[in-house]
Amino acid sequence: MDTRNKIALFPEHVAADAPVQDLLHLSRTALQTDLAQALASTNRAEVYARISNIRASLDRHDHQPQENGTDHTMVVMHRTHLIDALDQIVAAQTLERAHYYIERLLKGITETRTSAINDINLNRWKEYDDILTDSLWVIERRDSSGVHMADYWGNFIPQIPNQMMQRYTRQGDWVLDTFAGSGTTLIEGQRLGRNTIGIELQAHVAAAARQRIAAEPNRYDTLAEITVGDSTQLNYRDLLSNYGQRKVQLVLIHPPYFDIIKFSDDPRDLSNAASIEDFLAGMEQIVAQACTVLERGRYMALVIGDKYVRGEWLPLGFLTMQVVQQQGLTLKSIIVKNFDETTGKRNQQQLWRYRALVGGFYIFKHEYIFVFQKHA
Ligand SMILES: C[S@@+](CC[C@H](N)C(=O)[O-])C[C@H]1O[C@@H](n2cnc3c(N)ncnc32)[C@H](O)[C@@H]1O
Repeated sequence: MDTRNKIALFPEHVAADAPVQDLLHLSRTALQTDLAQALASTNRAEVYARISNIRASLDRHDHQPQENGTDHTMVVMHRTHLIDALDQIVAAQTLERAHYYIERLLKGITETRTSAINDINLNRWKEYDDILTDSLWVIERRDSSGVHMADYWGNFIPQIPNQMMQRYTRQGDWVLDTFAGSGTTLIEGQRLGRNTIGIELQAHVAAAARQRIAAEPNRYDTLAEITVGDSTQLNYRDLLSNYGQRKVQLVLIHPPYFDIIKFSDDPRDLSNAASIEDFLAGMEQIVAQACTVLERGRYMALVIGDKYVRGEWLPLGFLTMQVVQQQGLTLKSIIVKNFDETTGKRNQQQLWRYRALVGGFYIFKHEYIFVFQKHA
């Protein structure tokens, strides 16, 4: 599954990596007129003739916007989606059904219908191929475009914040990342036109992230700032007030997976928590703070994996999930995502396989993205 970063070109959502030959730049008015004529037809044969004509005309670029400037309205569509929609009309068994499909296509090119929490145009939902809706994510390749790099051990793949922001935020919304690390969320936010605030304990990690963010184009002129501090202790309301904000529309939480990776020697670092209880207590403080600034009806995503302790599987993900639920948030989804393998790990694969066979356990290949919603 390829979910490299996509940039929505509004009002049309067009994947940035969509093959150019798959995109049609059509005159909205011309297409609209042709479809309206087909809709006005009172017999199937005429409808089919008109629709077949539109379909044939696509390749002749009949709908290309006029150079002389008389028609500025343009609709960008995926060729395959438009052809599918036209074929569906032609294949309709009844005139009523054909009219219904025409009306739906007309709506798609003339009206935008979104929910309150994202910019997905529901009248053209079929075109959002890049937005995942299944609970199992097998992502083979990390997005390494632009300034994204895999060099910060323990960073998540950019597709995670990308998917979360596309599903749960609108352009111009505010996103809080309580463990900013190398700034993956902030980079994605900048690309998608979301304002992002990150918290990171280690000053040098935050400094490196800031440099990276600064090197990423900021075409929507959004804010992406990292505060150095302990996210278990900061007052998030005060933090937001620095930016003239009271609320955020999405919270992303990607903590250390307890002590699996030791991020620093700082005792406040959650990867140095003395026990699992201490780790969960820190997480509780973070989630409680995050709830004070998360807008009602909006979402929080927790990215975390499990670990083994002395040969026993510790369901760290589910324990942390419960901490969030205890704060009154509703669990909306549990996404299971494969781990991308680092070269180092790949070399050790055979050794781990042998150990698993001997020890009666399974090798971790997944982590979780828990999605929660705050009551409206
Ligand atoms: C799993 S990483 C996050 C990686 C990030 N998502 C990225 O893509 O780069 C966890 C980060 O949390 C930081 N951290 C650990 N304890 C912290 C705390 N109490 N407050 C703030 N940051 C903390 C670590 O330094 C580390 O950078």
